[in-house]
Amino acid sequence: MKQVVWHGGHVSAEDRQRLLSQSALTIWLTGLSASGKSTLAFALERHLINAGRACYVLDGDNVRHGLNGNLGFSHEDRTENIRRIAEVAHLMNDAGLIVITAFISPYREDRAMAKRIIGSERFREVYVSTPIQVCEQRDPKGLYGMAKAGKLAHFTGVSDPYEPPEAPDMVIDTSLVSVEEEVERIAVLAQTIGA
Ligand code: ADX
Repeated sequence: MKQVVWHGGHVSAEDRQRLLSQSALTIWLTGLSASGKSTLAFALERHLINAGRACYVLDGDNVRHGLNGNLGFSHEDRTENIRRIAEVAHLMNDAGLIVITAFISPYREDRAMAKRIIGSERFREVYVSTPIQVCEQRDPKGLYGMAKAGKLAHFTGVSDPYEPPEAPDMVIDTSLVSVEEEVERIAVLAQTIGA
């Protein structure tokens, strides 16, 4: 928008990172519903906070209660969901925080957009690759059951697509490894970036 001009402040992102003694980062979890993204995200947050790192989880179901409460599950709405989340993650990174996101984010193009908004140097993609058969068995909210019965349209993996990442930074199948082990593995991502 031409009439709106960016107003710079007197504190840089580096100043804020130095204050928090950490490198800002966004760990972007993508995968099917019930693949274990939220469980992993909140366990990782606990782990990092215990280790003295300032971080915050942006979770699909939670964000859709507030910021994205007006969005549904059409392709267009999912894209807008991801755009807003990426902008929020970008701001939180600018504030010095480590951000963990847990969204299905089914479209490759949308995840590429998130990477552009956040900046590739701060973006780490983690594919939660738990097989759909396991997700269907878990079905904690009964959504797979509803979708298969034709009572829920546009449900990812059943009546809507999921495009797996082609070159993720990490792949995690929560049906094979314990949450504790997975968290240890992902936490390494938060340590490998230079200040
Ligand atoms: S995304 O596709 O736009 O990234 P998001 O992660 O925010 O999705 O929300 C997914 C959550 O919304 C699921 O875990 C599930 O609880 C709920 N949900 C409700 N309807 C759908 C649907 N049609 N497809 C996928 N998830 C749905």
